[in-house]
Order: sequence, then C-alpha cells, then structure tokens
Amino acid sequence: MMEEGHISGPTPQRAAPLSDRVMLGIESSCDDTSIAILRGSRLLSQFTAAQHIHAKYGGVVPEFASRAHQIHIVPVLEGALKEAQCSLSDLEGVAYTRGPGLQGSLLVGSAFARSLAWSLDLPLYPVHHMRAHVVAHWMEDAAPNPAEAMLALTVSGGHTQLLDVHAPWDMTVIGTTRDDAAGEAFDKVAKLLGLDYPGGPVVDRLAGEGNPEAFTFAVPRMDGFDFSFSGLKTSVLRVLEKELAGNTSPSQDFIRDVCASVQATIVSMLIGKLEAAADHHGRKSVAIQGGVSANSGLRRAVQELGDRRGWSVHIPPFRYCTDNGAMIALTGQYAAERGESGGWGEAPLARWPMQ
Ligand code: KG4
Ligand code: ZN
Repeated sequence: MMEEGHISGPTPQRAAPLSDRVMLGIESSCDDTSIAILRGSRLLSQFTAAQHIHAKYGGVVPEFASRAHQIHIVPVLEGALKEAQCSLSDLEGVAYTRGPGLQGSLLVGSAFARSLAWSLDLPLYPVHHMRAHVVAHWMEDAAPNPAEAMLALTVSGGHTQLLDVHAPWDMTVIGTTRDDAAGEAFDKVAKLLGLDYPGGPVVDRLAGEGNPEAFTFAVPRMDGFDFSFSGLKTSVLRVLEKELAGNTSPSQDFIRDVCASVQATIVSMLIGKLEAAADHHGRKSVAIQGGVSANSGLRRAVQELGDRRGWSVHIPPFRYCTDNGAMIALTGQYAAERGESGGWGEAPLARWPMQ
C-alpha cells in the first residue's frame, strides 16, 4: 500500500525517465470529473466534465457533485479512451484520487476505479490529491521539468500549502493556511461583490481593468510559513459597506478596483512567503500549482520573483492547474515504478494529512 505522508529514503534530484506503461488516472475529489491516459509521462488524452450546477448556489453542493460525477464518469472514460485511441485492454494500471476531498465525490471515483481495476485484473494506485498537484510539474509537456529540489506553493479552492520538494515522491509540507484557502478567499470576495462562482477567474479578469493600489486591505502577520486569509473577507466587507452607504449597488469601476487590490494583496502574501521559504531552505527553484496558479497576477509575480533572484520557475500549463486526471495518472506512474500499489478494499479518505 502507498505510504501516507512523507516518504523518506534516497532522494535523487532528477526523476528517472518513466517506463512506457499506459496508466489511467481518475480524479473526482471535488466538482470536476477528469480522466486522463498517459504513456510514461506523455499525455495521450484528458477528458474533463465540469459541473455548472454549483454556480447558482455560489459554492459546491456536495450532494449535487456526487450525483454529477456518477452521471459523467462513464462518458468521460469513453471520451478519454477514444481520444487516446486505446481500448480497455491497452491499460496497464489504474490510478485514482483516494483523498482528500468530498466524501461522496471520492466514493464515486474510487468505487469506479477499484471496480475497473478488479474487472480488468490491473494494479491499482491510490493517489493523494495534494501530492498530485505538485507531481504535475513532471508531465512531459510541462517541460522543462524540475531538475533540482524546489520550494512549491499549492493554491487551490480547498488548500494552501508550501512544500519543500525533492522529487515527485519526496516532498514535505512546511506551511499551510490556518483558515481559508487562497482560492476560497478569491471566491468569497467575488460572492461579496455579487460576481459569479467560481469567483477566482472572474476576479482575475476584472483585476486586469482595475487599480491595484485603490484600496489597502489589512492582513494578519503570520509567523513562519503559515497563511491566514479569513480577515481579508472582513476587510473587503468594510470597504464595501462604506461604498454602499446610501447606494444599492457598487459601480463597475469600484468593483474592478476592489478586484485588482484584493488580487494584489493575495499575490503579495503568497509571493512573500514563497520567497522567504525558498531562502530559508536554500532553494533556487520555485513552483506554483493548483487552481489559483491559473491566476495571471500570480503567474506574473512568480516569474518576476524568479527573474529578480535568478531562480528557475515552474508554472504548469493551464490544463494541469485546475483538478485534472493527468496529475493523478502521473502520480500513479511513480507509485508503479516504486512498487507501491493499493488494495481493493481501501475506502476513500476525505481527510488525509500528507504527514
Ligand atoms: O485546484 P482546483 O481546481 O480545485 C480544488 O482542488 O480546490 O482550484 C479551484 C480554485 C477555485 O477557488 C477557483 O476560484 C480558483 O481555483 N481559480 C482561480 C483562477 N482560476 C481558478 N483563482 C484566481 N484566479 C484564477 N484565474
Ligand atoms: Zn485540487
């Protein structure tokens, strides 16, 4: 069985080339059903079904998410097989997200993956979702792949983590959020402003047209490498209340300026910790991953950090930023190389600490 948490042992900085095994990867931890097929680290196909039903509730409704995964999972697999020009008999392993995530969503993917592997008599690879976000940097088409130890920042709707990464199978969490995740902060601010869900991409777009220095938002100072984002929402609420005194709705210019200022605040908090952590651990290579790594301000800022410090920078292509089957399949490939397979009877883990 795959070990939980930090895997110690020899830590070569450069991952050896993977064998040409054909691996299926199934991701269903939140609201995207995504299935990919890889040969080694090369993407043969990736199909993702997004769930738009949550937009009208302003957040993911777990019961609707499970039902939608159940409807999507077979057609998504059929699409991935067709695009890769594969049949089920070409598969040599099945990797799936065992956790962390929404219990019902995980149950759909894990029951499907375990049944498929059992019926095809294939090895099964249970994958840690947060580890997989980092492993995405080793996809063949995410080149240049990391070639030295790096400091990596995972920013998604549910998590914010700083990790010291030696290899795809060897990483340690060194900082995390004490409350909201970075993506959650974007989504909550968007909701306050009456913008659509998920809010991150909308805030990103409007921020491009606003003034990042229009507002200053108070952010708590956190010691070490932990984050706190919950105060930001309250700070935005105060500014909004002031603007709305006597008015029914804020002006478009005001919304754009709030978006630009919030984005600048979040990005500066993230980059400040990333730089400090890289210095502390003596790393000269940094990376971002997870849904919020699609943010244009963050992508620009981490690139500027790399240029300023002479560090190498890893930013995944958009298809590997948000939840995707490819990162799950690739993590399965490394588990297979290391002989770490899972069993049929393993239940999903909604909570699954990395260490
Ligand atoms: O990694 P992900 O797809 O799912 C989770 O595992 O949570 O991340 C989703 C999060 C959402 O909070 C969404 O608003 C945020 O990523 N996001 C963005 C952008 N694109 C997605 N946040 C800021 N700017 C973006 N361009
Ligand atoms: Zn994710």
